[in-house]
Amino acid sequence: MELLDAIAQRRAVRDYLPDVLERSTLEGLIRAAVQAPSAVDSQPWRFVVVRQRALLDRIAREAKAWRLRSESSADLRKLLQDPGFHVFYNAPVLVVIAAEQESPWMVEDCSLAAQNLMLAACDQGLGSCWIGLSQDYLRSAAGRELLGIPAGWVPVAPIILGRPRAPAPPHLRRDPQVRWIDEAS
Ligand SMILES: Cc1cc2nc3c(=O)[nH]c(=O)nc-3n(C[C@H](O)[C@H](O)[C@H](O)COP(=O)(O)O)c2cc1C
Repeated sequence: MELLDAIAQRRAVRDYLPDVLERSTLEGLIRAAVQAPSAVDSQPWRFVVVRQRALLDRIAREAKAWRLRSESSADLRKLLQDPGFHVFYNAPVLVVIAAEQESPWMVEDCSLAAQNLMLAACDQGLGSCWIGLSQDYLRSAAGRELLGIPAGWVPVAPIILGRPRAPAPPHLRRDPQVRWIDEAS
């Protein structure tokens, strides 16, 4: 797939087949992730890959309950209270991109790695979605312990991956607002 096609076709996928992804496939996606630029070439990204069904379900349950404690949006509270809502949409894989330590650019660095990972997944016909609703839990002591996240690492980007059950519907963008500053202005 051409890069611009992957950029245009990547969608947040929220319905997955249960097929577990091969470790070699995930290693390929992580190799793409680490090609991202990073501030002062620090390459601070670290990866936790979860493919255990029971653990994924437990993290999803606990992340949902954790988020509900602080969520102020009525719509999101309703969603989080729905027993049928799986915060990872039953995806077979969760990749948590973490920074190796707190740093001024860790969010930018890890987010760029996350975008590479999601575009590479799209290129392979895989779906992905960043699950911000799980972030607070993954950063908590309980979440860190459950995933065995090493001391000092800071989870930044939880990305679910898997084979989409169906093509995700298009999600149109608003026209960009640009203030042009050219020679002639
Ligand atoms: C930082 C971030 C957090 C997100 N958190 C969630 C989430 O918790 N749950 C979810 O279903 N989608 C989440 N998304 C996906 C967005 O809702 C999605 O990217 C957006 O609606 C645009 O749709 P598209 O990715 O298909 O173009 C998140 C995306 C980003 C960038």
